[in-house]
Amino acid sequence: MKKIFLIAVVSTMTFLFAADMREDAILKRIQHLGSVCTSADCGLKTSGPGWKVSTSMFAAPVQVTDASGRDGKTVYEAACTTCHAAGMAGAPKFADASSWGDRPNKGLATLTMNVKNGLNAMPAMGLCMDCTDAELEASVQYMLDAL
Ligand code: HEC
Repeated sequence: MKKIFLIAVVSTMTFLFAADMREDAILKRIQHLGSVCTSADCGLKTSGPGWKVSTSMFAAPVQVTDASGRDGKTVYEAACTTCHAAGMAGAPKFADASSWGDRPNKGLATLTMNVKNGLNAMPAMGLCMDCTDAELEASVQYMLDAL
């Protein structure tokens, strides 16, 4: 009787173990590339109530506005539209790709820096004297998005 019990236990365990292995193999096969974990935080829950995505799992997000910052549209309409709506003094016109030429190729960082420091007829800060760097960047991005 003892022997039969032992055999039953061992075979059940073998069965469970084998089932486990099969599940593992299947999971491995259906796992898509994006879900491969390369960080120590992979165990973190990414869904469900109160979920929080660990930012270390992703590249640092591009910060467009800071926590209290105005968005690009707001800044553009408050400060930049004066010159950029009509293309005053040679300013590249809003939503008019041909007047921008290849300026967008300078990249967001350079364009933002040129607004901050001023460029020829464009005064420093694009006349948004209380703008943060993030707000200037957001307004440049807003103009680029319109092209
Ligand atoms: C007083 C008019 C004026 C205001 C206000 C102004 N700009 Fe400009 N902006 C210009 C002119 C003129 C140019 C073209 C400068 C040049 O290349 O000679 C320009 C160029 C630019 C460029 C292209 C820069 C480059 O490197 O080619 C960007 C981006 C830009 N402005 C964004 C802004 C943003 C964002 C604001 C508001 C925060 C703003 N501007 C406010 C006149 C203005």
